[in-house]
Amino acid sequence: MNYRRLNTNANLPQVIFGVFQITDHDECVNCVYNAIKAGYRAIDTAASYGNEKATGEAIQKAITDGFVTREELFIISKMWVQDMKNYETAKKAITTSLNQLGLTYLDLYLEHQAMGNYFEAYRAMEDAYKEGILKAIGVSNFFPATLANFCENVEIIPAVNQIELHPFFAQELALKTMDHYGVVPQAWAALAEGKHGIFKDKDLVEIGEKYGKSSAQVALRWNIQRGVCVTVKSTKVERMKENIDIFDFSLTEEEMNRISKKSLDHSEIINHFDPELVAFLNHRNIHD
Ligand SMILES: NC(=O)c1ccc[n+]([C@@H]2O[C@H](COP(=O)([O-])OP(=O)(O)OC[C@H]3O[C@@H](n4cnc5c(N)ncnc54)[C@H](OP(=O)(O)O)[C@@H]3O)[C@@H](O)[C@H]2O)c1
Repeated sequence: MNYRRLNTNANLPQVIFGVFQITDHDECVNCVYNAIKAGYRAIDTAASYGNEKATGEAIQKAITDGFVTREELFIISKMWVQDMKNYETAKKAITTSLNQLGLTYLDLYLEHQAMGNYFEAYRAMEDAYKEGILKAIGVSNFFPATLANFCENVEIIPAVNQIELHPFFAQELALKTMDHYGVVPQAWAALAEGKHGIFKDKDLVEIGEKYGKSSAQVALRWNIQRGVCVTVKSTKVERMKENIDIFDFSLTEEEMNRISKKSLDHSEIINHFDPELVAFLNHRNIHD
């Protein structure tokens, strides 16, 4: 495993297991437990995924069964827009996430979207960081100009910005902006959620054949070599192992450029610039 050093001096593993859309409780417990057994040490959940409780159960089981200690794990969760109304709602959301996960601290906690009152909500996160219950704080889905404005105005620079990053959405300006402010990039949907024929892509398959690797492994490796921490989800143990087995080969500069050129420069998953989507997410409630 490779790591990226955060502005807190903590090390974030470069491959992170994500649990988005694993909604069945028992399936989520099994997936997280199997992922830890397969060697993952970083787990990415969110209040809005509805599976913090299952994730926490799996973590506890893995610790009890002796596979890992709490200190060896890096647990990430996110505050949903509904809770980003003001300082108090944000503070409550942090406590709720910790309770759901059954943890006394989180290694990283993110604002899920640049929506709602995200400056005031962040102040609650800054205070929780100072108290030590959030070991690092950051953001997600902050596009370059929004991130720059945010970094220019907050007291504590976000440790991480988690955004969509894969060969079909390379987001070079986002990486440059993060680099400028010392924010570590964390990719979501590092396999493009399987879209755009990623697993059969001609270039990725051809490059993979040279190294005895799959197109998925090549896509993940490309982000790793760009300094990105990749968040990837699979419910299948074999694929969990495949997705973490990417540290025994290196892509050449030419291969890196060939993959970068595949970018469509827009998302095929979600359009954050659509006002209707912004309104929808602002009204999406995950609790009373
Ligand atoms: N911050 C945000 O707004 C945001 C948004 C989306 C996602 N995320 C985070 O990023 C994580 C990853 O993104 P994602 O889950 O949306 O998508 P993803 O990891 O890009 O893709 C997951 C899909 O690829 C399949 N897959 C995984 N490994 C494979 C392999 N080696 N070969 C073939 N198929 C494979 C999975 O199927 P199987 O499960 O059947 O293997 C699943 O259908 C999430 O779980 C979540 O933690 C964050």
